[in-house]
Amino acid sequence: MTTNKEKETKIFNAMKNHQEFLIRICTLDDIDAVIEVNERELPEDYPYFFYKNILDDFPESFLVAQNTYGKIVAYIMWRVEKAPSINSLKYVNKAHLVSIAVAEGYRRRGIAKSLLSNSMKAIKKYKIHEYVLEVRVSNYTAIRLYEKFDYKIESIKKNYYRDGENAYFMILNV
Ligand code: ACO
Ligand code: ZN
Repeated sequence: MTTNKEKETKIFNAMKNHQEFLIRICTLDDIDAVIEVNERELPEDYPYFFYKNILDDFPESFLVAQNTYGKIVAYIMWRVEKAPSINSLKYVNKAHLVSIAVAEGYRRRGIAKSLLSNSMKAIKKYKIHEYVLEVRVSNYTAIRLYEKFDYKIESIKKNYYRDGENAYFMILNV
């Protein structure tokens, strides 16, 4: 059976291979649940309009994972920025990973890998030259995840987080 929500949004996995989660594009109705996951899993919180603006501007790469009960257990969101290229003076489009989080009880099942690979494909339509992100230098788990996708540490951003922690700036050429 297809629900209305499934009709409106693109579904990336059909709960096949015994997967207990479904990856789909975020809708306006999901934002409150996304905020809940973010506030539980990450110290960086954003106001509602911040999520809404990203959903308005870059909907195809704003994905959520829902469990078999329809509860949102993870999200990923990106935005596209124009910035100077590393190796030329030209301005190019960069896909910036704004945030990814998976609820604690749902980790280590491949949800982040699935969110990343599907959203990275989706955001390519903006003719991006590279993917970029910042991650806490202490966030071993997330760094391992990005390295799996071949992201490399490009530099350290000192004092990047409000509590003073440094960030690794990681990039992957498209
Ligand atoms: N220890 C070591 N490596 C790990 C671990 C762990 N506990 N968890 C995940 N990884 C690595 C592994 O390489 C893993 O691949 P493998 O299972 O084949 O070995 C890979 O990450 C992907 O695993 P997934 O199961 O897809 O990852 P998961 O769904 O558990 O989500 C995430 C990973 C998003 C980092 C999760 O731990 C989380 O939500 N953490 C808190 C929020 C967070 O730190 N977000 C990133 C902030 S930076 C940013 O948003 C730009
Ligand atoms: Zn960033």
